[in-house]
Amino acid sequence: MKPVKVGICGLGTVGGGTFNVLMRNAEEISRRAGRHILIEQIAMRSDNPNCDTTGMQITTDVFEVATNPEIDIVIELIGGYDTARDLVMTAIENGKHVVTANKALIAVHGNEIFEAAQEKNVMVAFEASVAGGIPIIKAIREGLAANQINWLAGIINGTGNFIMTEMREKGREFADVLQEAQALGYAEADPTFDVEGIDAAHKLTILSSLAFGIPLQFSKGYTEGISKITPQDIQYAEELGYRVKHLGITRRTDKGIELRVHPTLIPKDVLLANVNGVMNAVLVDGDAVGQTLYYGPGAGAEATASAVVADVVDVVRTLTADRDNRVPHLAFQPSALSDAPVLPVDQTTSAYYLRLQAVERPGVLSHVTRILGEKGINIEAIIQKQTTEAQVPVIMLTQRVEERMMNEAIREIEALPDILGEIVRIRVEQLAD
Ligand code: HSE
Repeated sequence: MKPVKVGICGLGTVGGGTFNVLMRNAEEISRRAGRHILIEQIAMRSDNPNCDTTGMQITTDVFEVATNPEIDIVIELIGGYDTARDLVMTAIENGKHVVTANKALIAVHGNEIFEAAQEKNVMVAFEASVAGGIPIIKAIREGLAANQINWLAGIINGTGNFIMTEMREKGREFADVLQEAQALGYAEADPTFDVEGIDAAHKLTILSSLAFGIPLQFSKGYTEGISKITPQDIQYAEELGYRVKHLGITRRTDKGIELRVHPTLIPKDVLLANVNGVMNAVLVDGDAVGQTLYYGPGAGAEATASAVVADVVDVVRTLTADRDNRVPHLAFQPSALSDAPVLPVDQTTSAYYLRLQAVERPGVLSHVTRILGEKGINIEAIIQKQTTEAQVPVIMLTQRVEERMMNEAIREIEALPDILGEIVRIRVEQLAD
């Protein structure tokens, strides 16, 4: 049978990994795919020292690949929003299937891209866009297709998890660890995407759509980064039996869909709390299966290439199927997507860790607990740290409450004359049900 020809756009970290895996495992891959897969052309701006591209057809223009009549599948690994969007739309327009690792592209332009792909009867595969080498998209879209998914929670940014792990375990400085993550090829071109949770929010947007059958709605999610987490809060959390992890959480509720990325206290003994370094993990709660956990490397050249190449194999296997006989891009049939709203964060519900700085005076805590009580907020635990100073840190854990009520309570508590400065608030999840 004729080989399938692919064009690789971008030969950076993931592009280089993809090139090397396709070359090294060519025989084994063709045994799986049923066809030989040939790299017809590569678009790259500069050489990748890890790749031997001798004899390859090279261009600096990605659109040459997207319009090359020889090419069946365009592998988009240039990253970013705009050029990547134009490249993918051009490839689709030219009747080519697309494989991409670009979460920003899918989260922001995915609805439009999938519609164009449906019209042109081509596939857009994006397994590598979420959680690097973990086949989480396949698991949710196919393996869990029987379930009503209730919620999922994941560590879905390797750089952020690497930074938090190194800080907690080795007491290393934030900037120093970030630099190492960049050198290892984990971090985004703009590392604030990792640190401020934007990358995780892109990925969560995709997972949420796959889990609940809603259109991609990146702009409606809530995003909070890890840059304000202090060693002090990590320490207090540990004392309370919790670990701070940067989680993406999406949950189905009666009112709509929660979609939020933020630092979260989770019990130290749950598996997710022990996912360290660049590893990612996603915990999915389905009504039939219960909880399932998916764990693996969330970033890195060949780990991500593993997912890219698996997508190429998937596309090759279904080349002759028409659009109505393929797995739908967003797991649900396009005509059956739900219009359940993504909830503003003040309508979401969670428990809270609060740290406040109080003047050491009798009665101060009773004012605080009165305000919480008036807002219907139950206190789970209070610790007042011993000190010889005139002010003391007070740490509280509350039960679950709508965020709107917590915002009101925090405003009123901060206005008390004996409460100094801003209250630190970190959401808490038990991940039990
Ligand atoms: N910057 C991303 C991360 C790369 O650290 O997880 C993989 O998407």
